[in-house]
Amino acid sequence: MEYDLVITNGVCVTASDVAAWDIAIKDEKIVLQAPSGSLAEAKAKRIIDAQGGYVMPGGIDCHAHLDEPAIFIKGSNGRSADSWETGTRSAVAGGNTTIVAFAPQGKGQHSLLAAVETTHKLATGNCYTDYGFHVLMSDPNPQALDEFKTLKEKEGISSVKIYMTYTALQLRDDQILSVLLNARQNEILTMVHAENGDVLNWLTDQLEAQGKFAPKYHSNSRPPVLEAEATNRAIALSSLIANTPILLVHISDPSAANRIRIAQNAGQPIFAETCPQYLFLTRDDLDKPGFEGAKCVCSPPPRTKSDQDAIWTGLANSTFTVLSSDHCPFKYEDKEAGKQCCVNDEYPVGRFRYIPNGIPGIETRLPLAFSAARLALTKFVEVSSTNAAKLYGLYPRKGAMIPGVSDADLVIWYPQDKLGDISITNSMLHHDVDYTPYEGKRVQNWPRYTILRGNVVWDRDGGGIVSEKGVGQFVKRGSKARMSSMQCE
Ligand code: URP
Ligand code: ZN
Ligand code: ZN
Ligand code: ZN
Repeated sequence: MEYDLVITNGVCVTASDVAAWDIAIKDEKIVLQAPSGSLAEAKAKRIIDAQGGYVMPGGIDCHAHLDEPAIFIKGSNGRSADSWETGTRSAVAGGNTTIVAFAPQGKGQHSLLAAVETTHKLATGNCYTDYGFHVLMSDPNPQALDEFKTLKEKEGISSVKIYMTYTALQLRDDQILSVLLNARQNEILTMVHAENGDVLNWLTDQLEAQGKFAPKYHSNSRPPVLEAEATNRAIALSSLIANTPILLVHISDPSAANRIRIAQNAGQPIFAETCPQYLFLTRDDLDKPGFEGAKCVCSPPPRTKSDQDAIWTGLANSTFTVLSSDHCPFKYEDKEAGKQCCVNDEYPVGRFRYIPNGIPGIETRLPLAFSAARLALTKFVEVSSTNAAKLYGLYPRKGAMIPGVSDADLVIWYPQDKLGDISITNSMLHHDVDYTPYEGKRVQNWPRYTILRGNVVWDRDGGGIVSEKGVGQFVKRGSKARMSSMQCE
């Protein structure tokens, strides 16, 4: 048989193994793994010699906001900066083959299915990665809750995100319980943004009353205790609904992580996500001259250096199930919808309460984490790909390299490329954003090839993005795989 693509001489890394295998691809699937070098002469349309390289399942980033209305900022008519086209272009250049982003229930919109239809129109034909949707639920009205069944069974959407903060999104505890109950009945995973919105609004008023408006006070308005309290409450609410699984997203605070760990030790199905901003940024990044600190305003805010270390430990010991980007960019210079929208003559360094929350990071997630070399290679694959596939009902089609079963979604790294120190600059990235919070940060490696269902989409040294948009397809997802919330110890 003639294969479509053969990758020879590489070292394959999965969540469980590091082994020298060749891989053969036919009709978008991995069809064969064979001892290293044995397929070097195989009949194939294309052969990639991965000598000295690592071949891994493509990155799966299940937390991105693309072309989303900024309903989390009071009064804003803005949208997040990246479209489905530019966001997935950036994703693939950073080694990702699948993303899951949000289909937001608009203000006053009762139907979740309508939100899904709107989002399909934005994404169809525009993507460079495969993609799915989570519904973002701001109004758990009876119709919307009833639609969970159709979402799951017909639309292939098996996750919902809810918020414990942001005036336009925040759910009361009784509403959270209704979501959890319906999610449980339909095997939908509930993602929870755990910050106490009432407390942070009160603190924001207090800070403003003291004349504290600058971006750095965003951090003071969201102290760790407010994340830990909401995390604890979400865990308690899940326990009331017969321990229905929840995923606590973008955890930044070690005391919240400790609370999660305690629940996991007690056998509760509590899953947690962290993000590069809690590993590579600190609260000092918000304290830059003028309004520059706004470039790192996200929620929860970046914490301290020692908190970063604790979050790394949580990734290594499986308190965290996934490392996602929470890519939610707003242009810095945009006076209407972007970060600058709150800067005016009266507030020359802006008002932090109106800075759109969120930063770009879909392209830098894997290069930053790979280069930091603080996780075993298998653990790196687990938290950046395989566990996301398992949590969100994509496994083993995605996040694995099982012949005959897995899509040929791969990322190839050549650690011996000796790229030296690459200094990240915004100009090298493929998003539609005018800054990166990681400007000047050094990484030692960058994905050389990203392969989606057997098609090379990203070829770092051979033209960059080498595929047309539209190569990415919508993926219908099933239920979460059976998985322990702590996969080791
Ligand atoms: O600051 C953040 N994280 N913005 C994105 C919206 C969200 O809550 O994930
Ligand atoms: Zn309503
Ligand atoms: Zn959130
Ligand atoms: Zn988010």
